Amino acid sequence: MKVTVVGAGAVGASCAEYIAIKNFAEEVVLVDIKEGFAEGKAMDLMQTASLNGFDTKVTGVTNDYSATAGSNVAVITSGIPRKPGMTREELIGINAGIVKTVAENLIKFSPEVIIIVVSNPMDTMAYLTHKATGLPKNRIIGMGGALDSARFKYRLAEALDCPSSDVEGMVIGGHSDTGMVPLIEKATRNSIPVSAFLSEDVQSEVVEATKVGGATLTKLLGTSAWYAPGAAVSELVRAIAQDSKKMFPCSALLEGEFGLNDISLGVPCVLGKNGIEKIVEIELSEAEKEKLTSSAEGVRKVNELLD
Ligand code: LAC
Repeated sequence: MKVTVVGAGAVGASCAEYIAIKNFAEEVVLVDIKEGFAEGKAMDLMQTASLNGFDTKVTGVTNDYSATAGSNVAVITSGIPRKPGMTREELIGINAGIVKTVAENLIKFSPEVIIIVVSNPMDTMAYLTHKATGLPKNRIIGMGGALDSARFKYRLAEALDCPSSDVEGMVIGGHSDTGMVPLIEKATRNSIPVSAFLSEDVQSEVVEATKVGGATLTKLLGTSAWYAPGAAVSELVRAIAQDSKKMFPCSALLEGEFGLNDISLGVPCVLGKNGIEKIVEIELSEAEKEKLTSSAEGVRKVNELLD
């Protein structure tokens, strides 16, 4: 498995690091536009190989897409990150042009590549990638739900005073402060619904803290987060590399699923060697359906800005 990560900033570098440390890929190529930056990050990372015990070969290049040729998976993290007080949607003007150019460059050298879009506003950037490239829908995956679900599990574990490994929960919908739909009714601790342990008020607090998970970190850090985004991407890449058929909420192009069309939105997806192998149309409660529909409306408004 050869993986390209475009953007050697905090998210891209963290993503490359987790992929390397998890040791499932032969090769990771980091690409950045800043002269020498990806080369430096790659060299620094490679110098941890004997310490962390991985065999993945990490290289870096400055804007040279020929080095990415034959990639099985490419992750697009390029563009500007959020600053405190900014929404993900405000990044569209700058990031749309960057994401489109990057996707076209990737496909030129790796016609079979599966693209994972991370740049924000992510659902709109994934939709743009579909429109700009015309790739089959299984080969464009927006990463947001895996991260938001990890943040949901963190908040649930905190409220339950238990390890995150005890908790199951999923966030669908748009990757935005208002669009996320944490499926609290379906969340469990060791298969027991969390409503057995948490009051309605605490459940609402968990949901609200999850939805502003990225904004909370942006305020603390002065820029957007990187460890959990990088780790979440690495798990999607691993599911593809190992053809594991693991289910993650991903932003997928919808063609009638959940009653939605012509939109890329976070829904449960089975990932394997072909990328999105299946969109899983889980049964939603009326309240969940309403939230997903309103989330889609929000994403559509941002998509309209692409014109
Ligand atoms: C976040 C950015 C990566 O949620 O969207 O941290």
